[in-house]
Amino acid sequence: MALSSSHHILLLSFLLSCYVPLGLARIHWPVGGSTRFYDFKVQTTRVTKLCKTKDIVTVNGMFPGPVIYAQEDDRIIVKVTNESPHNATIHWHGVRQRLSCWADGPSYITQCPIQAGQSFTYEFTLFQQKGTLFWHAHISWLRATVNGAIVIYPKTGVPYPFPYPYEEHVLIFGEYWHKDMLQLEKEVVASGGGPPPAEAYLINSHPGPRYNCSATDVYKIDVVPGKTYLLRLISASLNMEHFFAIAGHKLTIVEADAEYTKPFTVDRLMITPGQTINVLVKADQPIDRYDMAMGPYMSAQNVTFQNISAIAHFQYTGATLDDLSLPAQLPVYNDNLVVNTNLHMLRSLNATNLPSEIDANLFFTVGLNVEECHSSNPNKSCQGPSGGVFAASMNNVSFVKPNISLLQAYYNNINGLYTDDFPGVPLKTYDFVNGAPNNIPNDTQSLIGTKVKVLEYGSRVQLILQNTGTVTTENHPIHLHGYNFYVVGYGTGNYNPMGAKLNLVDPPYMNTIGVPVGGWAAIRFVADNPGVWFMHCHFDVHLTWGLSMAFIVKNGEGPLETLPHPPADLPRC
Ligand code: C2O
Repeated sequence: MALSSSHHILLLSFLLSCYVPLGLARIHWPVGGSTRFYDFKVQTTRVTKLCKTKDIVTVNGMFPGPVIYAQEDDRIIVKVTNESPHNATIHWHGVRQRLSCWADGPSYITQCPIQAGQSFTYEFTLFQQKGTLFWHAHISWLRATVNGAIVIYPKTGVPYPFPYPYEEHVLIFGEYWHKDMLQLEKEVVASGGGPPPAEAYLINSHPGPRYNCSATDVYKIDVVPGKTYLLRLISASLNMEHFFAIAGHKLTIVEADAEYTKPFTVDRLMITPGQTINVLVKADQPIDRYDMAMGPYMSAQNVTFQNISAIAHFQYTGATLDDLSLPAQLPVYNDNLVVNTNLHMLRSLNATNLPSEIDANLFFTVGLNVEECHSSNPNKSCQGPSGGVFAASMNNVSFVKPNISLLQAYYNNINGLYTDDFPGVPLKTYDFVNGAPNNIPNDTQSLIGTKVKVLEYGSRVQLILQNTGTVTTENHPIHLHGYNFYVVGYGTGNYNPMGAKLNLVDPPYMNTIGVPVGGWAAIRFVADNPGVWFMHCHFDVHLTWGLSMAFIVKNGEGPLETLPHPPADLPRC
């Protein structure tokens, strides 16, 4: 009997999985594949690095944190319990959060923080997404140690569009300071100046041998000669962009921001905070130990930064270990040409649903500002340029977070927390890149405010992101929540609609774009996911200084175009 009833259960689940979801797919959407549960405990964890011990904030005591493994269309449920004394939120970077804006995670944008001792359960579907993404804290500068990979495999039976790798490895890039991150942010804000350089860069939390007291703290991947490896590169760095290279080996880029690309092969690549890049590496060199190096890309002027690379090892089985490892060649720190050449080669494998008509034409400047110093110190001087205070802005508005989340304010019609007058184009037009008429310390103040841009449901948006030369030109990694966008164009100098060449055939489909230093990028997306979606520079210091804004995407018609109710356990402020 037992046999026959389990047989029935098997048959029933076969019917459920093969017949019922197909029949109901149109009505009950989004439908997940499997549901995966994770338990995240935000904790304080003691670590020793570079011969110094400190307490860091982690998830489950792990640094980097636990990997979320899933398949396309899976439902993910993560219960986050805050056992640390600090406020916390987790953002699922690159997850498009179809109809689940409440689970997005940026603090004071879609939710209030999870307070000490409280918990919140994030629920979302990886609808039509596969590849490498990551999760990270989205409050203060806790991302430095609160981060981890999201690895989404294709559905069962669906192959990769490239030769199957022998093994896969995740490499998370980061930056490390001896100071407590909350304290560091406070000090930087109080000084008005820039952040101190990181003590070290990290690969999977290991700095490699080149820093003070780090000789044996090296991450390594063991490789079998002749095999091909898939490396899932993730930049969780705070304030720096990085070059990456492996001594003697080529990198074939096959995916960026969890979207397949036309494969192309490079000697080195640049990755900005917020980006994920999958590369294939063939172990086709003589048996030895090779460096994997991650060093700075710094496109701004007059910034002090850590110029020592983090090193991990790509180590062939059979290599003799007393050998020195072979050094990797990274570009010099300001090699903009490498960055632009790689961007040029980045193409979608298939670009589907690229809007050709545009309903909303937007133009946002992106850059730094200087505010007046209000310090009470005797010479009234702050540590920003010309004794002022650093700020950063989009369209010359420095964003200030409200003290209740924007999404709650919008959903509940609470007045007075934000205004919907974020300008669609700059209020003043001038030579953005070359700076005039913005001479420090005059005319470089930004407006301070909590302004949003409202988009109608389904509108097709083109947005030009224009870097400004106020203070300094710089490559800014601009990230949009809730969407991927097509990067249809980019260039140096001021954007000129007449001269700009756009790729409307196979542009890459990204969630973060490093806007070229002293240049521009043009992005397109269809605003078909209702909610409040943050857009910001993924350098935490620029985020702190106000380089962000939010879109409100209105509801469309019917339940599949309408933001659902908030979850019952949404944290209170
Ligand atoms: Cu990866 Cu708003 O962040």
